Amino acid sequence: MALVSNKEILQYCDHEWAVGAFNINNLDDVQAVVHAAEELNSPVILQVSEGVAKHFGIEMVAAICCTAGAKASVPVAVHLDHCRSAALAVEAMRHGFTSVMIDGSALPFAENAALTKQVVEIARLCGVSVEGELGKVGGTEDDLVVDEGSLTDPEEAARFVELTGIDVLAPAIGTAHGVYKSAPQLDLPRLAAIAAKVSVPLALHGGTGLSDEQFRGCIKGGIAKINIGTEVKQVQMAAARRYLEESGVKAEPRPLSKAVQAAVLEAVKEKMRLFGSAGQASRWA
Ligand code: 13P
Repeated sequence: MALVSNKEILQYCDHEWAVGAFNINNLDDVQAVVHAAEELNSPVILQVSEGVAKHFGIEMVAAICCTAGAKASVPVAVHLDHCRSAALAVEAMRHGFTSVMIDGSALPFAENAALTKQVVEIARLCGVSVEGELGKVGGTEDDLVVDEGSLTDPEEAARFVELTGIDVLAPAIGTAHGVYKSAPQLDLPRLAAIAAKVSVPLALHGGTGLSDEQFRGCIKGGIAKINIGTEVKQVQMAAARRYLEESGVKAEPRPLSKAVQAAVLEAVKEKMRLFGSAGQASRWA
């Protein structure tokens, strides 16, 4: 199955189910996420933060993710998350990313729209899809720290989508990146109002720590892409600690990778079942 863009991978969601976008940290994660998708016949998005892109180099991480995606038996999109510069977004496109997020949410509306539109115009020429953010999702994601979130206005969202031509919109509806300090309060009426005003799929940021009920409510309200980042890291680190404790001095790197991969694979499968993406890859057959 070929690599696809986020626009293509989200096209069938329609308030019934959503595709998980899992932030990867290394090769083990890439394989675990793709294998989970294959085992459940689910479409999936391999998501790469700016921090991970800089850590490995964009060319290396693109090669790893695109190779894993192209070899997969299910549709896989390779997406650059929260990219704050047009230059890095273009670099990602050059190296094969099928989708990029240009995050101008820290800028005033007009500047955010101008930056986003610039990236959309280039992406169109390459068949790459673009996600934009309006409003501010608070919290911490790798080296992206947003102290104070602010919710998205539905009218402004419609204007933003029209002005920029983005393929996917990330609205702020009360979620935050990282670990929640108190139970997240989601503004589902706001989500419904945004979904009614815009014609593009919506992306939910800050998926770690939401309840099953909140995920279901978001999907019903129009969320088509659900980002999970922190939970992947938590599962990974817990599995590594467990393996090292249990195997003591005999610990070897490849069995350690295997143990961590198995844990990430199970966690990702659980999310795919919850989001309803399991079994949906047959639509592309
Ligand atoms: P979490 O780290 O809170 O799961 O959020 C992931 C995300 O939204 C990446 O953009």
